[in-house]
Amino acid sequence: MNPLYITTPIYYVNDVPHLGHAYTTIATDVMARFNRLQGREVKFLTGTDEHGQKIAKAAELKNIETQQFTDEISPRFKALVSVECINEESENLLNISNTDYIRTTEPRHKNAAQALWQILEQGGHIYLDKYAGWYSVRDEAYYQESELIDGKAPTGAEVEWIEEESYFFNLSKWQDKLLKFYTDNPNFITPKSRYNEVVSFVKSGLKDLSISRTNFSWGVPVPNAPKHVMYVWIDALTNYLTSAGFPDTDSNEYQKFWEQSDIIHVVGKDILRFHAVYWPAFLMAANLPLPKQIVAHGWWTVEGEKMSKSVGNVVSPYELVENFGLEQTRYFLLKSMPFGNDGDLSRERLVEIINADLANNIGNLSQRTLSMIYKNFDGVISEAKNIKDFNWQSHFQNIEAEMKSFQYQNALTQIIEFSSKANTYIDEKAPWTLRKEGKMDEMGEVLYNLAEAIRKIAILLLPFCPNSANKILDQLNISDTERNFVALQKPLKQGIKINKPEGVFPRGEL
Ligand code: MSP
Repeated sequence: MNPLYITTPIYYVNDVPHLGHAYTTIATDVMARFNRLQGREVKFLTGTDEHGQKIAKAAELKNIETQQFTDEISPRFKALVSVECINEESENLLNISNTDYIRTTEPRHKNAAQALWQILEQGGHIYLDKYAGWYSVRDEAYYQESELIDGKAPTGAEVEWIEEESYFFNLSKWQDKLLKFYTDNPNFITPKSRYNEVVSFVKSGLKDLSISRTNFSWGVPVPNAPKHVMYVWIDALTNYLTSAGFPDTDSNEYQKFWEQSDIIHVVGKDILRFHAVYWPAFLMAANLPLPKQIVAHGWWTVEGEKMSKSVGNVVSPYELVENFGLEQTRYFLLKSMPFGNDGDLSRERLVEIINADLANNIGNLSQRTLSMIYKNFDGVISEAKNIKDFNWQSHFQNIEAEMKSFQYQNALTQIIEFSSKANTYIDEKAPWTLRKEGKMDEMGEVLYNLAEAIRKIAILLLPFCPNSANKILDQLNISDTERNFVALQKPLKQGIKINKPEGVFPRGEL
């Protein structure tokens, strides 16, 4: 299996993190963890996007020097994830297993962005001209007149007319090559509806892209053109290369993670065009390998409304974690709708889902089973001859297939169905009655089958709810080396002495 290099978008530091950012990061984390459990080496990158007019304006509004402003906001994003990789203390609020955290203001990135620029320039793909057209600072995007709706960007953002000297990338030249690439790689963009959207956008005609700005200076300087800073998107997209060691193409990091890995970029639907059109065109022009897949997810609303500062309904990841728990938040975000669709954060629904699936289904199963083993068998898992496997393999195969196509919801449904079968079994076999009837061997067998189901559920749940799943595995006394998908295929050992069971999925309340 070749390694996986998976990324989140890098987040703009004009504002503090909210639910939308947390969602992308958690979804990517679950995928990274899942692949590691399959035995795959995974590089996982996240970080912050710190240049451009939007950030410069946000700093100006606060009357703070721009670098200082970004130095203050970037740690707010860092606090959600792991930064052990760069040797700093981290709160890691969301328990994210990233292996690198990048800031575009770091020297390594400036170096990479300038190197890519020079390769494109030397290849004859960049030319100097004048840009006259619409620009949205909020979206950091250029819009054509025909795209505007009532004088605004299609996203609703304000646009301004700009005229300035600018370097251009010859994007129009890549139209046919891109279309051929999409045809040859039908899974390049997922879900399918987004693939179609991108193909029709490219078919409708690509214009050359302005890739430098002169009317502000907060960006990576264009090599040998001191008046120009790079357009923030060419700068930002290059972050994926920077972390892989570029421009040192001989480095182990680059060889392993850019040349030999499956590269997957997880992004929101709003930034698909940049990743699925501009980015592959830049890479083709620079003769560098392309990512394997761009995965686009939908957007969250909150209690039916668009999240916005003016409405005052922006949800902080801290609020969710504090009120509902981290494991529950992670679970809800991936279980409540198909990946790719838009979702709504209804707190009532969140509580409903986590209570039904985590507290009542998995939590109860585990608590009931482990307590019976603890109380009636001195905590020792009995022998079992009559193995009941609840058609386990088929669930596992389905889970692997669903996760391959980023269908987290379906994968979780498989886990829940498996757990429900074990719950039905416990009720049918009624081990408490077996005890009363003195049928201890039979009771022991039933509890073995249930403990085995719980072990499997916990291992499968590791990517989604790592802390709780590990707690269940701790209670079952499963060693660290047995917490992966290879171990899933081996039977639970008989005679293990379990630890004192404790509830891992408390009921949620509004
Ligand atoms: N800086 C760029 C990305 C550069 S990647 C080379 C950017 N940053 S962002 O902070 O504005 O957005 C980052 C991600 O958060 C995007 O994928 C976006 O889709 C996601 N979300 C922002 N609001 C969201 C919701 N309300 N719901 C779900 N995700 C949303 O774009």
